[in-house]
Amino acid sequence: MRQIPLSEAKPGMLLARYIMNGAGTILLAPDVTLTEEYLRKLTALGVSTIFVKDPDHPDIHTPEYLSIQTQQRALAVLDTTMKQIARGDTFAPDAVDSVASDIVEDLLMQKNLTIHLSGIMTHDDDTLAHSLNCSIYSAILARIAGFTIPQIKEVAAGALLHDVGKMFIEKIILNKPGRLTEEEYAVVKVHAEQGFKSLISRRGELSSLVAHMAWQHHERVNGQGYPRQLQGSEILPYAKILAITDVYEAITVNRPYRRAMAPDAIYDTIHSGLGNEFDAYLGELFLSKLAIYIAGMRVMLNTGETGIVAAVPEETPQRPVVRLIAHPDGSPYTPAREISLADHPKIQILATKTT
Ligand SMILES: [Fe+2]
Repeated sequence: MRQIPLSEAKPGMLLARYIMNGAGTILLAPDVTLTEEYLRKLTALGVSTIFVKDPDHPDIHTPEYLSIQTQQRALAVLDTTMKQIARGDTFAPDAVDSVASDIVEDLLMQKNLTIHLSGIMTHDDDTLAHSLNCSIYSAILARIAGFTIPQIKEVAAGALLHDVGKMFIEKIILNKPGRLTEEEYAVVKVHAEQGFKSLISRRGELSSLVAHMAWQHHERVNGQGYPRQLQGSEILPYAKILAITDVYEAITVNRPYRRAMAPDAIYDTIHSGLGNEFDAYLGELFLSKLAIYIAGMRVMLNTGETGIVAAVPEETPQRPVVRLIAHPDGSPYTPAREISLADHPKIQILATKTT
């Protein structure tokens, strides 16, 4: 399996993962053969990246955190909940709790719990996919940090709902390409407190910590965040986790208004925020498990060779095993050879070909 930009997809390729809309409805399923018509429709829908089967390397699997059932249910519950909150209707906190619980159960079944791109992308509602991805990453970080299972589920639920306040902001501002004006930014910032107010009204059915995650997720340990400029220990650990995963998610996914960052820039962004924007301890933990290259990615090495990431060891997630497929002159490796970058410190990945 490999992840490719839609622009590189060709008729005849076999799809390797479901393509869903924001409400969790399946548009295309694995094993569907791509046609000109499908490609045109996917382009029109704004899909930028897809997963296809790689007949030359059928043994390489890009790991997926959640079962398709959990993904669908999570998106559907989120979609319903967000709309209910936006209308001021009552919503069902237990449905959110139950989805958060499913997410955590799916994650705990994983043998190798590194942090890598979830691959969950929806093209019609960025807030839903963003929230689900943040929930996955936050639960993993909480797990790595040694939180109890009930705490991890609470973190997952809070991350699912952290941006509900965005439902009150006009889409034209949320999806605006480029920099926001000062007035627009002031409007966006209100979502933290707005989300808190919507959620705290259901205190009793929903943990108040969940509501506080919405309020505090843009606070920064150096006091430079918003809305209250809390600092250090004034910020709840759950919100400190979410502050990291929220930024990570935002810089790793192509959105209509922003391109995803290159893998090494993703690492550097989190790293440079340690101790000032992000809690240093939690940030270090996050980076220690961060796999910026995932199985199935095509990579160019500083040796001039081309390869595919074949596996990502949990102990050295930034030094994957690479299957070499082409020599520097472009001629194929026959047979392909695998090298572990953990054993070859001088070999660097220069670029990837996924977006
Ligand atoms: Fe936010």
